[in-house]
Formats: sequence, C-alpha cells, structure tokens
Amino acid sequence: MASDAFTGPVASGPAAVGDVLTLDVGAPVHGGHCLARHEGRVVFVRHALPGERVRAVLTEARRKGYWRADAIEVLTASPDRVDSVWPAAGPGGVGGGELAHVSLPGQLAWKRDVITDALRRIGRLGDDHPALAGLSVERAPGDVERGGLRTRSRIELVADGEGRAGMHRYRSHEVLALTDMPLAAEPIAAADLFGRTWRPGATVEAVAPSDGEVLLLVDGEPLRGGRRNVRERVRLADGREFAYRVAGGGFWQVHVEAPRTLVTAVLEAAAVGPGAAVWDLYSGAGLFTVPLADEVGPEGRVDSVEGDTRALADARRNVHGLDQAVLHGGDVAAVLAERNGRNGAAGAAPGAGAGRGPAPHADVVVLDPPRAGAGAAVMDAVLAAGPDRIVYVACDPAALARDVAHARERGHELVSLRAFDLFPHTHHVECVAVLAPTKRG
Ligand SMILES: C[S@@+](CC[C@H](N)C(=O)[O-])C[C@H]1O[C@@H](n2cnc3c(N)ncnc32)[C@H](O)[C@@H]1O
Repeated sequence: MASDAFTGPVASGPAAVGDVLTLDVGAPVHGGHCLARHEGRVVFVRHALPGERVRAVLTEARRKGYWRADAIEVLTASPDRVDSVWPAAGPGGVGGGELAHVSLPGQLAWKRDVITDALRRIGRLGDDHPALAGLSVERAPGDVERGGLRTRSRIELVADGEGRAGMHRYRSHEVLALTDMPLAAEPIAAADLFGRTWRPGATVEAVAPSDGEVLLLVDGEPLRGGRRNVRERVRLADGREFAYRVAGGGFWQVHVEAPRTLVTAVLEAAAVGPGAAVWDLYSGAGLFTVPLADEVGPEGRVDSVEGDTRALADARRNVHGLDQAVLHGGDVAAVLAERNGRNGAAGAAPGAGAGRGPAPHADVVVLDPPRAGAGAAVMDAVLAAGPDRIVYVACDPAALARDVAHARERGHELVSLRAFDLFPHTHHVECVAVLAPTKRG
C-alpha cells in the first residue's frame, strides 16, 4: 500500500494528526472501522482488516476520547486483503468505498461480525441466540460475477472548483475529482459523467432505472429540462411484476438487485394471506406496499405511512387501483400517536373503526426506518397494534439492535434474521429481522 502521502513521525508522547502509529488491528466495528488500541486508547482504524498489524496515520487525535487513523502500510496482512478495487477511496481518499481492500467473502464475514456484535451488545442477545447461530450475510445475484462493482442504480457526485465531477474526501468538504465511480451501474458509467465539465460546486445525481434511460439531475433539476421521474419494475421469481414511478432524486433501494431481493425477503417474512391487515411504515414510493396489497387482496388492508411528500405522491400513483392500500402522510411517530389518541388506549381491539390513521390492529407490521431506527415511541405503537409478527428492514445494525432490545423488554422475541450485502465495498448492510410475541395473553 502506498504511503507517500503520509510521512509523519512515529508518535511518542502527545499525538497529533499526521503522526504514524504501529497498531495491531482488532474486530470490525460499526461504520467501516476496525478497533485497535494505542497505550490503552481506542483507535478506530480504516483501510485495515482484523488480525493485521499496520502502520496507520492519525486523522483525528483528540486529547480526550478515541482517535481515528487510516492504515497506510500493512506489516502483517490478513488473508482477506486484496488490492483495492477502488484506490481513490483508499487512505486520504473519498468516502464510500471503505471495504474496497477486502475480498468479497471477507466483506460478508466483516458485516456478519458487526451485526452479531450489535445484537449481542446493544440488543442484549445471548451468545447462543438462535437468530444469530449460523447467520450469514447473503449476496445479491450477480455480485460475484461483477466483483461487487457496477451495482448502484443511483450515485451522487459533486463538481470541484474546475467543474470536474468528483466526491468529497472522507469526513471533509473538499471535493476530489475522479475519473470513474466503479460502484455505479453500467448505464451510469456509459453516461460519461467524468468527461464533462459541470458548474463548479454543482451536485450531479445519476439514476439508472430498471426501465428506461439514465436520468441526470444537476442541483436537483433535470438536465436540459428532461423528465423528473423514472420507472422501476420489480419482477419476482414467481413471475409477478410490479411497476413504480419514482422521483428522480427520491428514495429507491440503490443496488440494482435490492428491490427484488428485499421485496422477496419481506413477503416471505410477512407471510400474509388474503384478508390480512398490514402496516407498512416508512413506506417510501410503495416498494413493499404494492406487493403487500397484492398479497392481502381486496379483502385485506395495507396502511402505509410515509413522511416525504414527493415519495407519497409517487406511492399514490403506484397503488392506483389497489383500494386495499391506504396511504397516510406524515411523521410515523406523529401519525401513530394521533391514531392512539383517537382510538383510545394502546392495544385497541381488532376490528375497531379505522378512522383517518392506520387500522388499530395489524396482523403484520413491516417497517423500514432510516438509519436512526424507529425509536421507542414508534416501537411501542407498533407493539400496541398487536401484530403476530413485525418485519423490520434495517439499514443500520446498531439502530436495529436498540429497537430489538426495546421490543424484547416488552415481551417480543427476535425469531429470525437475514442479512443482505446490498452495498458491496462499503460497510453498509441490510437486515430483515422478524419479531414475534413470546406468548399471547
Ligand atoms: C429506508 S427508506 C425505505 C422506503 C421504502 N420502504 C423502500 O424500501 O423503498 C425510509 C423512508 O422513510 C421515510 N422517513 C424517514 N423518516 C420518517 C419519519 N420520521 N416519518 C415518516 N417517514 C419517514 C423516508 O422519506 C424514506 O422514504
């Protein structure tokens, strides 16, 4: 690994940014770092692997608390180390490719360890908890063939002062010009984003939908007055296909295989049949709402809650003709709190009047919150709906673990857990967890 950029002295006494330490690297932790210690102090090291001995340059060295460092030279390499598939995201480089030096199997093991650690430490699951036994992170179809590259249907770039497309240096506002973004899907790679000159400082978003051409947004506006929305299609193994309209800059699962993978996993976990009552919280443009509405049929009901008005407008269009799908706009916690206020005490009886909010009882609750997780108030409202199962889609293992701990203290158990590597070469991982009541009163 090149270390020319960092020539700081070996640290002795008080340390400063730029000092170089020799570190024995321990377990991976949340956020794409590994844990190391220097004279008792915790150092979060990037670009290293568990079991390695590295020379690492300090990138943050507060007098109190933990330090941060980038590995710049490997003294003892892990068997999982490979030549980085994206050197521009290496030490001192852009963020967003922090596992590019880890083999694909090594990335799965890394993510499994982070999830397991979070659920043990924060979720307070025992070492022998069945949901953790044998947990393996599943790969999206085609990722081995692609080497984990060219997987993203959405990327965001920033133009530097000379109008060259690039990305921010990790934990910095500085823009580093790039010549490629190897995680971007092929149609985006073919759009020649790096051969053009943009307005200095502009944000350039590229979207490669599953149905249609690449859409480019500059500072949120379509290039040359083009369209603002894209069409997405999700085809399941059983032949069913669902079509969606999604705002160009709006939320959509980013790995080209993620929508199908997650819909399949959610439907399997939810296991709802005709006539069921389902909540779909943080429902976005309706990725899960539409297939769930298909599963419950006209006799059932899917109540979806989403806070983003643009996503809600897309969802309205996407559930057109599915009268069993009922959309509620607003903050999930507020919508559910209002529902509880209206319907009386938490745990209102099944079959009570639906009113304006979600139906009081849900057989199944699906929730897919942002990184911060659902939080105590939302989890309480979910539990109060009396579901047989809760299908929790999580992009942050620590937040999932917090919400699992909360549910477990209130008589629910984590009954199954799957994890999917839908962000190869980064630390991100998606979980689908199922919680169920331990016993019915
Ligand atoms: C991880 S995305 C999931 C969307 C959808 N399930 C999907 O997979 O396409 C989370 C969604 O929650 C919405 N959201 C975030 N915080 C929210 C809140 N407090 N209340 C309501 N919606 C929220 C976001 O707008 C986003 O659409």
